Amino acid sequence: MKYFIDTANMDEITEINQWGVLSGVTTNPSLVAKEKNISFHDRLVEICELVGGPVSGEVISLEAEGMIEEGRELAKLHNHIVVKIPMTAEGMKAVKVLSEEGIKTNVTLIFNTVQALTAARAGATYVSPFIGRLDDIGLEGMQLIEEISDIFTIHDIGTEIIAASIRNEGHVHGAAIRGAHIATIPYKVIKRLTNHPLTDKGIDQFLEDWKNK
Ligand code: E4P
Repeated sequence: MKYFIDTANMDEITEINQWGVLSGVTTNPSLVAKEKNISFHDRLVEICELVGGPVSGEVISLEAEGMIEEGRELAKLHNHIVVKIPMTAEGMKAVKVLSEEGIKTNVTLIFNTVQALTAARAGATYVSPFIGRLDDIGLEGMQLIEEISDIFTIHDIGTEIIAASIRNEGHVHGAAIRGAHIATIPYKVIKRLTNHPLTDKGIDQFLEDWKNK
């Protein structure tokens, strides 16, 4: 499973990119809105140049025609751009047209398996099931990852699964073991992925022993 970071913040992306673990970035309108005084398009290009992998930028239109127009504009910005499209009937029309034009798409706000299968059949490059938001309403986000993964394997579907709405390290583990191709992870969770109390204890012990050699 590859790691994407789920943010539009350059400091966060720059720091984690230095670890060598980042394969791409996802943004959404809420994440972009947190970044004050930036141009959305300039920021996407900046991220593409830095990370050198797929960078999702989301459309705002709700009608297929507007999504297609926005998607074409976004795709022109950089060859790493992936056009993020919400899981709606209009969204599927846009995915069909954009994918036929060779533009990569990420269908977002997926909450069940048939949405994922439908997006894949429309031509989506990626689907983004939201784990945390399902857990928030008492459902099993992780089960959705497992079922989409099984369905895509059974039917030999090449669309990649991006486990999204990740809230903790357990989600990263769960998505990986259930076959998600990618997890898009918020900065604060990525920062915790190197941690284990026994690692800290081990380092303290090594240094202590070294001092007493
Ligand atoms: C995915 O691409 C979304 O940007 C994201 O994972 C949403 O996560 P949230 O539920 O924490 O807002």
